[in-house]
Amino acid sequence: MLNEIPIGKAQRLTAPAPFALLSTRKPDGSTNLMAISWWTYLSNHPPMLGVCLSKKGLSGSLIHDNGEFGLSIVGEELRESALRCGTCSGRTTDKAAEFSIPLTDPVSISTPLVEGSRVLFECRLKDELEAGDHMIYTAEIVAIRGDEDVRQLFAWDGYGRLDPV
Ligand SMILES: Cc1cc2nc3c(=O)[nH]c(=O)nc-3n(C[C@H](O)[C@H](O)[C@H](O)COP(=O)(O)O)c2cc1C
Repeated sequence: MLNEIPIGKAQRLTAPAPFALLSTRKPDGSTNLMAISWWTYLSNHPPMLGVCLSKKGLSGSLIHDNGEFGLSIVGEELRESALRCGTCSGRTTDKAAEFSIPLTDPVSISTPLVEGSRVLFECRLKDELEAGDHMIYTAEIVAIRGDEDVRQLFAWDGYGRLDPV
């Protein structure tokens, strides 16, 4: 039977969402990592994607300041550490160092990405759109690398846990 449900329940029911770690560069040169479910492809020609970020976190302001970000579709060995990147802010924690998440050099931008990922997207900011309490950042994908032997993770139960399907 269909019942009226709040948006949070709809998001739980429609999980799994594709899970990623979004990387940004902090002013001190270190890399910030944020757990993100709300990203989507936007265009093939040119290749574009969009990310939807709460106005409260650090990552949105870093995307705005730097005009670029990385999106890493991380592999299953980061199941626990990647989830922790969604529970604290880069304002107080150096997540890559504290959670021992290995980084890899980019090819077209200046923000590192996550080593051992299934797909790595390097993105240049195009537009910023306000969406209620979130901001949508649309970006052109300027480099894509992939390794199909790596199994990706999905966010289950909303933001509850990460597991392969
Ligand atoms: C599985 C998972 C998925 C998440 N997806 C998003 C998302 O799509 N957008 C968002 O704004 N926050 C999302 N979060 C929450 C952020 O990762 C969290 O607020 C983080 O602390 C922000 O870090 P920052 O302040 O370093 O940017 C998610 C958290 C988890 C655990």
